[in-house]
Amino acid sequence: MFSLGPLNLRSNLFLSPLAGYTNLPFRLVIREIGGVDLCTTDLVNARSLIEQNPKALKLIETNAQDSPLSVQLFGGVKEEMRDASILLQERGVDSIDVNMGCPVPKVTKTGGGASMMNELPKTQELIRSMVDAVEVPITAKMRLGWDDQNLTAPDLARALEDAGVSAIFVHGRTRAQGFEGVVNLEGIRRVVEGVSNIPVIGNGDVTTPQAAKRMIERTGCQGISAGRGAFYNPWIFLHTQDYLQTGVLPPEPSFEERIRVMRRHYDLMVEVFGEKRGSLQFRKVAPWYSKRFGPVKPFNTAVVRISSREDFDRVLSEYLEWRKDFTDGSGELLPRYQLPPMVASFMQEEEEHQAKQRKAIAVPKGPVEVW
Ligand SMILES: Cc1cc2nc3c(=O)[nH]c(=O)nc-3n(C[C@H](O)[C@H](O)[C@H](O)COP(=O)(O)O)c2cc1C
Repeated sequence: MFSLGPLNLRSNLFLSPLAGYTNLPFRLVIREIGGVDLCTTDLVNARSLIEQNPKALKLIETNAQDSPLSVQLFGGVKEEMRDASILLQERGVDSIDVNMGCPVPKVTKTGGGASMMNELPKTQELIRSMVDAVEVPITAKMRLGWDDQNLTAPDLARALEDAGVSAIFVHGRTRAQGFEGVVNLEGIRRVVEGVSNIPVIGNGDVTTPQAAKRMIERTGCQGISAGRGAFYNPWIFLHTQDYLQTGVLPPEPSFEERIRVMRRHYDLMVEVFGEKRGSLQFRKVAPWYSKRFGPVKPFNTAVVRISSREDFDRVLSEYLEWRKDFTDGSGELLPRYQLPPMVASFMQEEEEHQAKQRKAIAVPKGPVEVW
């Protein structure tokens, strides 16, 4: 059990917003697999929501299975953020997240996204107006700071706790880092230490259950959120939950299971967006699944051209036929085509470091097998 203000959740693992990807079909796919509870929408412009802009309304489209749901808002105008929060509460949304991490100029120039990290009193006031207006929890998602010289997240987190947020989600990189470089676990730990009573959820490059465990152990954060990790591997939440509870790592999903889930994702895309649009949008979804298929070139080339269900079915069945040459009798990839396990950036650095150390200590000549 995990509490986000008044909201009780069944998991401390969260889906991180990925604009263009964390739509209703994807949220349903990962909920069906399990291990996750609160999922979020893509970021939504508060003003567009108030104006009932159809695109903004599509971004918050949901259904009974898509619960509990958080909507992520961005915007720098206090009154708009407050009114959008009221509107979301009236629509039955369970939690509202405020984007303070987005580095994209379209977002920062509104006074929202990462620019909020630089204006503590204004940001605090904006959050307070949202907290006062609704009962549902308000959470904030931030980066470690603007750049390495301005690691403001601990101060911002403390100020936001005073303003009434129920949790902090923190991506362990600065705005200047973008998505490059190693996630800074020490930076996340400072945010955890910066707040008194609210949970901090760590984020960034959690691509495996071991990475989730490492982030929690090293930072003291109360949970993790995964974005790209969930796209590479929609089983990540289920497997992480198992691993954290039992210490045993579940096996990777079989190829058949990956195909089953990808098909389900496609069906939901068509259901929610219609056959044409769903197929066009699936062009950018399928290559995430195929990253773990093994040899995949013809599939990747063909799937980015699909426009209909017929196209999708044909591309997939041709691929399944082609892939047989790389598998054994049971359909598993022959050893030479199997993929190495994924390693998170912050795990990699440590492993590289250990490998360097191993190399630095020369092994003297002799009967290695008996030493
Ligand atoms: C394509 C893409 C879209 C994103 N969109 C959002 C967004 O709408 N709101 C947000 O707060 N963060 C957004 N992010 C950042 C992610 O939520 C997350 O903080 C970041 O990707 C690091 O976590 P990950 O390694 O688990 O993906 C986006 C990231 C990517 C790659």
